[in-house]
Amino acid sequence: MGIGIQVEGLSKSFGSQVIWEDVTLDVPVGEVSVLLGPSGTGKSVFLKSLIGLLRPERGKIVVDGTNIIESSAKELYEIRKLFGVMFQDGALFGSMNLYDNTAFPLREHTKKKESEIRDIVMEKLTVVGLDGDEKKFPGEISGGMRKRAGLARSLVLDPQIILCDEPDSGLDPVRTAYLSQLLIDINAQIDATILIVTHNINIARTVPDNMGMLFRKHLVMFGPREVLLTSDEPVVRQFLNGRRLGPIGMSEEKDEATMAEEQAMADAGHHDGGVDEIEGVPPQIMATPGMPERKAVERRRDRVRQILRTLPPNAQEAIRDDLEGTHKYHSSQFASMDDGHQDGDESPTGRIPISRER
Ligand SMILES: Nc1ncnc2c1ncn2[C@@H]1O[C@H](COP(=O)(O)OP(=O)(O)OP(=O)(O)O)[C@@H](O)[C@H]1O
Ligand SMILES: [Mg+2]
Repeated sequence: MGIGIQVEGLSKSFGSQVIWEDVTLDVPVGEVSVLLGPSGTGKSVFLKSLIGLLRPERGKIVVDGTNIIESSAKELYEIRKLFGVMFQDGALFGSMNLYDNTAFPLREHTKKKESEIRDIVMEKLTVVGLDGDEKKFPGEISGGMRKRAGLARSLVLDPQIILCDEPDSGLDPVRTAYLSQLLIDINAQIDATILIVTHNINIARTVPDNMGMLFRKHLVMFGPREVLLTSDEPVVRQFLNGRRLGPIGMSEEKDEATMAEEQAMADAGHHDGGVDEIEGVPPQIMATPGMPERKAVERRRDRVRQILRTLPPNAQEAIRDDLEGTHKYHSSQFASMDDGHQDGDESPTGRIPISRER
C-alpha cells in the first residue's frame, strides 16, 4: 500500500516573493488526489518541495515518519526512492533514447541485471503505449509521447507515491482520457498514493478521490472530491468552469474594478469564456474491467464517513448520495453499458445537471 504525506504549516518564498504560506494537508494513503490552482500559484514548487528538491522555510513534510525538511542528505536519498515523479516538462535526458531514459532510475538505484531491467522497462513502456518507440530520442517524438515516457520512467521503481505535474499538458483530449484511465488503473494495480497537479477540468472532475486548490498564496481547500465539486467558493467555481468571470485574472489576481467591468460585459451578453455551468458531482472513473478493484475506494469510504460531519453541507449531501447509491443525476449512457463502466467522456449528456443560472 502507498504511503501518505502529511504537510503542516508549510511556507515557501524565493527572496521577498512569498509563493504560499501555511499550507496544511494530508495526502491520504493509496488514494488519488489532485491539486488545482491558477498558473504561477506554486503547484510545481509544492511538488518539488515534497521530494526535497526545494526547501520550504517553515513547516513540516512528513513522509514515512520522516520530516524531510530536517532530514539529512542520506535520509532524503532513501525517501526519494519511494517516489515516482513525472515532471511538468518530462525531464528526459536528451542524449538518451527512451529505453535508456526509462532504465535510468533502475541503473542508478538498483543492482538489477540488464535482463531484469529490460523486462521492467519494456513492461512500463508498454503500459504507456510506447513499446516500439524505445530507440527514439526525446527530440524525435511528440510532446505527448515525451509525457508518457516520463510517466513510464516514474513507474520503474514501483513507487509508493507518484507525483505527476500536469500529466495532460500537450495531450489531445482523447489521449487525456486514456491517461486518466491509466492513472486510475495504476492506482488499482499498485495501490500507490498519487498526487496530480493539473489544469484539466475533466481530470479534476473524474479522476481524483480528493482535491485541493492553491490560490492567493494559500491552500483554499483540500478534501474529498465532493467538497470542491459542490463548493460555492467563487474562485473554485470559476476554475472548474473555465470562465473569465471571477476572482482569477490573466495575472492571477484581479482588482474589483476589473471584476465589475467584466460582470457588466457578461450581463450585456458578452461571452465569458465558459461553455456551460456544470454542477454536481460526476461519477469517478473506475478501474478498467479485469483490473484489480481499487482498494482505495473502500478505504476512502471509511475515512470519509469519519470526517463526514466536519464537511460543508453540500459535500455531505453528495457523499451520502454516493454512499447510498442515490445519485442526483441519471445517465442513459451508463444504463446502456453492460457493467456501467465510464468511457471517460464527461460531456453533459444528461449525467450532470446543467444550470445556466448564476
Ligand atoms: N527556483 C526558483 N527560483 C525562484 N523563483 C521560482 C523558482 N521556481 C519557481 N519560482 C517562482 O515560483 C512561482 C510559482 O511557480 P510554479 O512553477 O510552482 O507555478 P505553477 O503553479 O506550477 O504554475 P503553472 O501552472 O504555470 O505550471 C513563480 O512565480 C515562479 O517564478
Ligand atoms: Mg507548474
